[in-house]
Amino acid sequence: MRVLSGVQPSGKLHLGNYLGAMKQHIEAQEANECFFFIANYHSLTTVQDAAVLAQLTRDVALDYLALGLDPTRANIFRQTDVPEVTELTWILSTVTGKGLLERATSYKDKVARGIASSMGLFCYPVLMAADILIYHSDVVPVGKDQTQHVEMAQDMAAYFNNTFGCEVLKRPEIKLNEAHVVPGVDGQKMSKSYGNTIDLFDTAKKTRKRIMGIKTDSTPVEDPKNPDTCNVFALYKLLAEPAEVADLEKAYRDGGMGYGDAKGRLADVVERVLGPARQRRDTLAADPDAVEDVLRTCAGKARSVAKNVMTEVREACGLVAGKDTHR
Ligand code: ADP
Ligand code: TRP
Repeated sequence: MRVLSGVQPSGKLHLGNYLGAMKQHIEAQEANECFFFIANYHSLTTVQDAAVLAQLTRDVALDYLALGLDPTRANIFRQTDVPEVTELTWILSTVTGKGLLERATSYKDKVARGIASSMGLFCYPVLMAADILIYHSDVVPVGKDQTQHVEMAQDMAAYFNNTFGCEVLKRPEIKLNEAHVVPGVDGQKMSKSYGNTIDLFDTAKKTRKRIMGIKTDSTPVEDPKNPDTCNVFALYKLLAEPAEVADLEKAYRDGGMGYGDAKGRLADVVERVLGPARQRRDTLAADPDAVEDVLRTCAGKARSVAKNVMTEVREACGLVAGKDTHR
């Protein structure tokens, strides 16, 4: 099965991104053909500083490779290395009603947060549909906040096929990532725009400090505590082994354990997961040419698929002299 997803290089990646998206992407490489790309065209809607965008793009590649993406099994590439997606974006925009885009909740949220409402931001879902459809993707793993966008891609595939009486574009399936909403240090959804993240590649010391600052209630040490309403426990559950989770749950319910202890256990588990990745990342960062090679090679494979699909798309809508143009 062909699995495809994208990540915007628009800020430092955090535990929410890892648990909500990257982890599932990396696991998919075991049994699928995987295309993961760094959505730098999309990021232009919010990051408009050349040096910053270039740096964030390299960072996403390093983060994925450090966390275990194996480029011999999965493809990781820059969105811009397959420029055909911008052509498909245009074509899809001609068969998509403006009303569909006006219903996009992500667009409305972004504008409400003060992001300039450019045409790029408005058409963001069309570019995303092109990303998905240009590779005949079977499955698109995403977080809950992105499902509406993938549903729009399903709609756009149908609009195109219906308009041109063909079956060229394939309807992708959505795979909702497991960890629906990872809480941040303040208990709200972890997000870079809320300043409540635990970043993936801070130093061990900074990460621990951040974890010790997670908001908890004021239940005294000796009293039993409710794990189900605690942010520390919610994060622990997503990262620790089942036996460790059962152990901490018992300590909450029994009482006699302070939140400081629970945070310490969480910090240990986070370090167990991220420590080795941090080392791998440092090694990779010291060899930028090797990382560039990986991105180029993977883009080459992705682009050859995209070119074939675009040939069919152009033929279907009469943009080139295809088989049936003289009907
Ligand atoms: P941010 O909210 O920090 O800007 P993005 O919107 O760039 O993060 O998210 C990129 C991917 O990571 C998306 O697929 C999204 O679903 C996932 N993701 C981000 N934050 C969380 C979270 N707190 N819980 C679960 N998934 C998340
Ligand atoms: N919009 C996605 C996000 O912010 C990133 C993205 C761009 C994407 N194109 C995609 C995800 C195609 C899945 C498929 O997370």
